[in-house]
Amino acid sequence: MAKPAKKKKSAASSQEHAQEYAQERAQKEAAQALAAAAKKLFSFSFSSPLVLRSAKPEFGDLSSAAAFEIAKNAKTAKKNPVDIAKKLAAETAQVLPPLFSSVAALGPYVNFVYSNEFYAALLYEVSVAGEAYGSSESGAKRRVVIDYSSPNIGKPMHVGHIRSTILGDSICRLLRFTGCSVVGSNYLCEAGTQTAKLMLALHELEKRKLNDEKDLLDYYVKIHKRIEENPELLEKARVIVEDMEKGEVKLKKELAEVRRISVDAFDRNYALLGVSFEESIFDSDMVPLAKRMALELLDKKIAFRDKDGEIVGDLEKFALPNLIVLRSNGTTLYSTRDLALAETRFERHAFTECVYVTGSEQKNHFNQVFKILDLLGKPYAAGLKHVSFGLISLPSGKMSTRAGNVVLLEDILNAVIAEAQKEILKRRGADYSESEIGAISKQIGVGSTRFAFLRVSPEKNIVFNPAAAVVFEGDTGAYVQYALVRCRSILAKAEEAGVKADAYAKTTKSDFGREEKALLALAAEFPLAVESAARAMQPHQVCDFLLKFCAAFNAFYAACPVLNAENDEDKVRRLRIVEASLRVIENGLGLLGISAPEKM
Ligand code: ARG
Repeated sequence: MAKPAKKKKSAASSQEHAQEYAQERAQKEAAQALAAAAKKLFSFSFSSPLVLRSAKPEFGDLSSAAAFEIAKNAKTAKKNPVDIAKKLAAETAQVLPPLFSSVAALGPYVNFVYSNEFYAALLYEVSVAGEAYGSSESGAKRRVVIDYSSPNIGKPMHVGHIRSTILGDSICRLLRFTGCSVVGSNYLCEAGTQTAKLMLALHELEKRKLNDEKDLLDYYVKIHKRIEENPELLEKARVIVEDMEKGEVKLKKELAEVRRISVDAFDRNYALLGVSFEESIFDSDMVPLAKRMALELLDKKIAFRDKDGEIVGDLEKFALPNLIVLRSNGTTLYSTRDLALAETRFERHAFTECVYVTGSEQKNHFNQVFKILDLLGKPYAAGLKHVSFGLISLPSGKMSTRAGNVVLLEDILNAVIAEAQKEILKRRGADYSESEIGAISKQIGVGSTRFAFLRVSPEKNIVFNPAAAVVFEGDTGAYVQYALVRCRSILAKAEEAGVKADAYAKTTKSDFGREEKALLALAAEFPLAVESAARAMQPHQVCDFLLKFCAAFNAFYAACPVLNAENDEDKVRRLRIVEASLRVIENGLGLLGISAPEKM
């Protein structure tokens, strides 16, 4: 399952284009012009006046509140920011940088409007950067381990694991795109009582051949019933945990079989979703170090032995619940193994950060583990971070749950793919062959599932509705995929007609129309949206951006004929805009792990 570590960013992203993008450049130039004006007019020295994207089109493209600061602090200025803004704008207009066509004061604000040259520069920059457009080297010094997916051997992944898998994968992509070196790490849990119960099932229940995870699930459900009827079986499960930790040979063999079935099933899911990891770690391999660390805690008085003989992390004085780290029979727990896991990963990767992507019900667990590592004086403790997320529910009746109330990833994907197929048949049933429809539905289904999970900010709960996930007009992955397919089809038609867009690269004199400007101003924002999403580890920011961008693209498409444009100049300019839009959407979807079908 593990793949060798590799840098996934395209080679084209090297130094040359990862530097400063058009919007950043424009912001800097506007700030410099304002600073010079402030100095000349008011003898006021700015470290750097803040210039931001304007909130509304009537405020221009970039906007600065520099006048406020001058009014507050300058000795020679009048105290009225409206006057100051007027003067600043008039002075700045004298030496206006070429990326702007005008500057004006509106109330106390100074607003800048991008010039045709700005849009031309942007188009050029997007086409040169290509797959790397939006990437940066801002994270070059960070080495980040991301613990995600991390399902349990012997059980199918539940919806929480699916959210972790999709979210963690996208965070990996975002961090790589911004220059971090990333280790996607899957932590496969099998050392606990859960697996022991499954071993117990193998001993207690009628023998049968185990083929796949559904058989395991079935076993699991049955043994739970049996334990409920005969609680004394729990003691047997406890002994099994002890024996597993001792490495008892027969158990090891049985576990290997269960492991194989589970890992096969996980790998099928990962292949479907297009997810891979740089490493997989089994928690049972953490047991020896975990035991040593538990004893070290006792030694260093970070933990105490309670009256029942358990070793307990003494955390109440830090406003956290105490944490059992070793049972009285000497076996480890989830928490103890997580201590050893952090230590092991730091030894292996010397990470600057290690991020755990799991449900918010594990918040306490991670706070406790992080605190204990901090008390142990671990140099990496400050770099540990829990990215938690809310619950996922399915509208009842929409999807049948299997025994054990578990919804399998396959069930979810199949339901969404079926919905996507309905949608395609409804729209284009006559145009495509059956196998084409199958392939397209799959790509839309998987992409839309990813999008539906990523769109929601992590702390919020998700009600996942397969039919709603694939509608073509809405806040969906299908909607974004559709815009991309539309770009592709325009470009393909242009090629057929022999229209070349490159010609435009040489001229910057063309006048950009309103919808074109609105779309391109957003394209210019893309690198900043990526940077912000990466910094916060919030892929939903990318989703928000893409939905906005696609709406602007559709407005452009509705207002501006491309291949039927009135003259050649408009035609090539708009083709270049379509090319740039394709880039932005494709790169954005790439950060979410979504690809689009050739047609839909
Ligand atoms: N296997 C755990 C579960 O299903 C998640 C593990 C998360 N990672 C970790 N290092 N504890 O809840």
